[in-house]
Amino acid sequence: MSPSTPREGLQLRSTVVGDSEQSGHLELSIASVATPKPGPDDVLVRMEAAPINPSDLGLLFGPADLSAAEAGGTNESPVITAPIPAAALPGVAARIDQPMPVGNEGAGIVVEAGESDYAQSLIGRTVGIVGGATYSQFRAAPAMMVLPFPDGTTPAEAASWFVNPLTALGMVETMQLEEHNALVHTAAASNLGQMLNKICLADGIGLVNIVRRKEQEDILRGIGAKFVCNSSDDDFEVQLTDALETTGATLAFDATGGGRLAGQILSCMERALNRNAAEYSRYGSTTHKQVYLYGRLDRSETVLGADLGMAWGLGGWLLPPFLGKLGLEGTARLRERVAGEIKTTFASRYTAEISLTEALDLSTLKAYGRQATGEKYLINPSR
Ligand SMILES: NC(=O)c1ccc[n+]([C@@H]2O[C@H](COP(=O)([O-])OP(=O)(O)OC[C@H]3O[C@@H](n4cnc5c(N)ncnc54)[C@H](OP(=O)(O)O)[C@@H]3O)[C@@H](O)[C@H]2O)c1
Repeated sequence: MSPSTPREGLQLRSTVVGDSEQSGHLELSIASVATPKPGPDDVLVRMEAAPINPSDLGLLFGPADLSAAEAGGTNESPVITAPIPAAALPGVAARIDQPMPVGNEGAGIVVEAGESDYAQSLIGRTVGIVGGATYSQFRAAPAMMVLPFPDGTTPAEAASWFVNPLTALGMVETMQLEEHNALVHTAAASNLGQMLNKICLADGIGLVNIVRRKEQEDILRGIGAKFVCNSSDDDFEVQLTDALETTGATLAFDATGGGRLAGQILSCMERALNRNAAEYSRYGSTTHKQVYLYGRLDRSETVLGADLGMAWGLGGWLLPPFLGKLGLEGTARLRERVAGEIKTTFASRYTAEISLTEALDLSTLKAYGRQATGEKYLINPSR
């Protein structure tokens, strides 16, 4: 290991502590861990930027009741604790008393490399990294797995390179693979939703955006979205059916997951298809309509209506298994597009850049825990 690389670095950890068989609590803390030594084909990355995405919050907070969270520890080494409702404990039994590193993705600078030519060629480059523990000061990874960005790209610009960009691209790939012609997307003013709009505009794909607030309509129209429907409007289902008829969208990705929205989309798709049906069928349209629940922003029960026809499907959609289906070549094609368009199509904006210790400040933690539009935080573990 180079003498200039510290032998230890800080890492943010989330632990579900089992107090007894019936009770437990969450503990968030910062640990000092040994800096990994890169193998012959590996690189060592000094992490400088890692976003806090909804999927990170799932691991970070688990089922803890954050409204009752308390701050402890010291200024240099803060600790957050929060109770876990007894009913939620069995769901996290597999992680009790195991400190878990957090952070799905991020970017940093390659500071050391194994002896292979390719690993050595990456020294000094900004690279994207994925696979966990990105809220750490140092991460090692196989050189072939990191994504090098063009010169002049900062780690902050590259931080959100994988989860949202590849999911947005994966939605378009799914549309093509499953032979639909246009898409519907919910919670559409999200970071991911804005990327999807830019992809669809560039690629000439019809996209119906569903949001729940007027400000979100304005954000999307501001980046060129043609179809934006507001689920809080009285005539939401009319707006949606009109947009579905015009675009021909029969595939939706729903980030809310709970409540009536997925059912409303399927019903409106059926209505839009029946508007132009050549003849009546009591079984409804024969065109297949599909909604994938790919997030759970709304944790309530998913409720479907009774007017969906018979040709429809509702399923889950998750990025890693989808990339497995797409294969290495397909995944490499998507990664290359992200590397080339990280400052345009896949650019992300952040509310604030915070250090590991600031991430454990109680009021900051409650702010990023809200998952509100335009309020994504970026952790810089090396700050
Ligand atoms: N399945 C996968 O593989 C995969 C991969 C990547 C991302 N995702 C999912 O993609 C979604 C977007 O991620 P992101 O990082 O782009 O999010 P983000 O930028 O943090 O934005 C979250 C958005 O969701 C809205 N929202 C929150 N709760 C809502 C609710 N109950 N009903 C309707 N809208 C709600 C917020 O609007 P307000 O301001 O109105 O609250 C905000 O616009 C998340 O659900 C995430 O889990 C899934």
